[in-house]
Amino acid sequence: MLEKINQTKAFIQSKTHLKPELGIILGTGLGGLVDEITIQDVITYKDIPNFPLSTVEGHSGKLIFGTLGGKSVVAMQGRFHYYEGYNMQEVTFPVRVMKMLGVSRLFVSNASGGVNPTFEIGDLMIINDHINFFPAHPLTGKNEKSLGVRFPDLSEAYDKNLIKKAKEIAEQLDIKVQEGVYMGLSGPSFETPAEYRMVRILGADAVGMSTVPEIIVARHMGLDCFAMSIITDLGVEGKIVEVTHEDVQNVAMKAEKKMTRIMKALIEGL
Ligand code: HPA
Repeated sequence: MLEKINQTKAFIQSKTHLKPELGIILGTGLGGLVDEITIQDVITYKDIPNFPLSTVEGHSGKLIFGTLGGKSVVAMQGRFHYYEGYNMQEVTFPVRVMKMLGVSRLFVSNASGGVNPTFEIGDLMIINDHINFFPAHPLTGKNEKSLGVRFPDLSEAYDKNLIKKAKEIAEQLDIKVQEGVYMGLSGPSFETPAEYRMVRILGADAVGMSTVPEIIVARHMGLDCFAMSIITDLGVEGKIVEVTHEDVQNVAMKAEKKMTRIMKALIEGL
C-alpha cells in the first residue's frame, strides 16, 4: 500500500506545485464549495494512478487544488463508497494520499437520514461522534507503522475545537445546526423502519453510507477531522415515507448554501 501511495503522491506532485494544508471531501451538500475555491490545478481521478473510479450518480471524480479563505486546499469532488463495490482500502485510499501531500486537517460532508425525533428534513448536523456499523474496517490487515499505530485511539474522532468554532459560526450566521452521532452502514438500500429504530436505540442521531471509513483512516494518520451532514429524510416512527436518491439530492441542494457558508467561514478562520 505504501508503494501505491507514494506512486500516486509522486504523480500528483508532478501535476501540481500546490502544497495543501487542508483536505476536503466534497460529499453531498458541499458541491458548491468548489465555487469558493480559487482553483490552481484539477486532476481527473481516471488519470491518477491507483485511484478508483467514482460510479454513483451526482458524484463526478476530480481532485481540485487551490486556495480557500487563504488556505491551500485539496478537494475531492466525488468520493468512493463501500456500496459501489470498492473495498475499504480503496474507499479510504485518497485520504491516505491527501495526508502524504501534506494535509493536517480533513473536512467532510454527507447526506443522512435523521433518526432523532427532534430533527427536521433539511437540517444540518455537525457530527460529534460516530458508530461504525460497516461490515468491514479500513484498518484490517497488516498495519503500516509509518502511517499510524496498530490500535488507533478514537476518543476524539471529530475535533472538539473545530466543532466549537463551527457552532459559533453557525450562530453568528443565524443558521440552525443540530449536533449528533452518525452511524455508518453499508447501504445501498435505505433502512427499513425496524433498522431506523435500531439505529436510534443504538445511540445514533443520523444514519448514512459514508464518512466513517474516511474518518477512521484520517485519525489513524493523525488528521484533525470535521464533518457535517444534511438530514435529507427522516427515519423516525410516524414520519417515515418512501425515499429516493433524487429526494436526497433535492433536499441536499436546498441545504447546500447553508453548509457551504459554515464550512467556508470555518476554514477562513483557521
Ligand atoms: N439512510 C442511509 N443513508 C442515507 C439516508 C438514509 O436514510 N439518507 C441519505 N443517506
